[in-house]
Amino acid sequence: MSAFYCAGNWKLNKTPTQALDFAGQLLQMAEAHEQKQMIIFPPALVAFELARAFKTSGIQWGLQNCYSEASGAFTGENSAAVAWEMGAQYSLVGHSERRHVFAEPEDMIAKKVTMVQSAGLIPILCVGETLDDRRWNRTQEVIQRQIRQGLSSADTEKPIWIAYEPVWAIGTGEVASPSQVDEAHSIIRKILKEWSANVHASIPILYGGSVKSDHVSSLAGIHNVNGFLIGGASLDPKEFLKILRASNEIRK
Ligand code: PGA
Repeated sequence: MSAFYCAGNWKLNKTPTQALDFAGQLLQMAEAHEQKQMIIFPPALVAFELARAFKTSGIQWGLQNCYSEASGAFTGENSAAVAWEMGAQYSLVGHSERRHVFAEPEDMIAKKVTMVQSAGLIPILCVGETLDDRRWNRTQEVIQRQIRQGLSSADTEKPIWIAYEPVWAIGTGEVASPSQVDEAHSIIRKILKEWSANVHASIPILYGGSVKSDHVSSLAGIHNVNGFLIGGASLDPKEFLKILRASNEIRK
């Protein structure tokens, strides 16, 4: 089976001391091959400490968000180019909280995808419908729009990942059902095929939304699920590793 990833989105949680504690525990518990399947997205101010802790390990890290320009008069923003120099490999783009809490528009998200790629990082474009969208049968339309617009100026020659995170499942304890995940990920694969017939099959698609070790067994084996984007449950190194191990067990 293809590679499988567990990405931990810490959001605005953990101080540098707590991050180092997490890193110490995780590095002690996780085998080398497991470390290569892990990516952590710390708050930007914590990234420096975490990057140092992970430097000689297989664990990768990335930004939760960055600006659409590498430098300039943009007070308070974070640069993908700086993150690259610090050893980051990824940046989330268009996470649900960026779209809904910070009202980030689709054209800004598309610019960020391009910036992240040109800085040498891999953008993980996050998409997903709200509860209203699902109730009104607009799931496919919303995912299609978010992917088409998000990738409108992206380079098909450079890596890109997608994370499907239904808004109603994020931080709510309500996980999408295996058939809902299967359907959404298949739709995403089809949209990616329209975008690039050459590379679509190799683009990892992560599922996110209340992922915990209890329910990975029903999700990790789904054909187009190439990993998880985990919020709350990624804050505890034992639980994070448990999710990865349970997924690997299913995918054996
Ligand atoms: P959650 O968050 O696992 O806490 O639902 C997922 C995310 O927002 O990436």
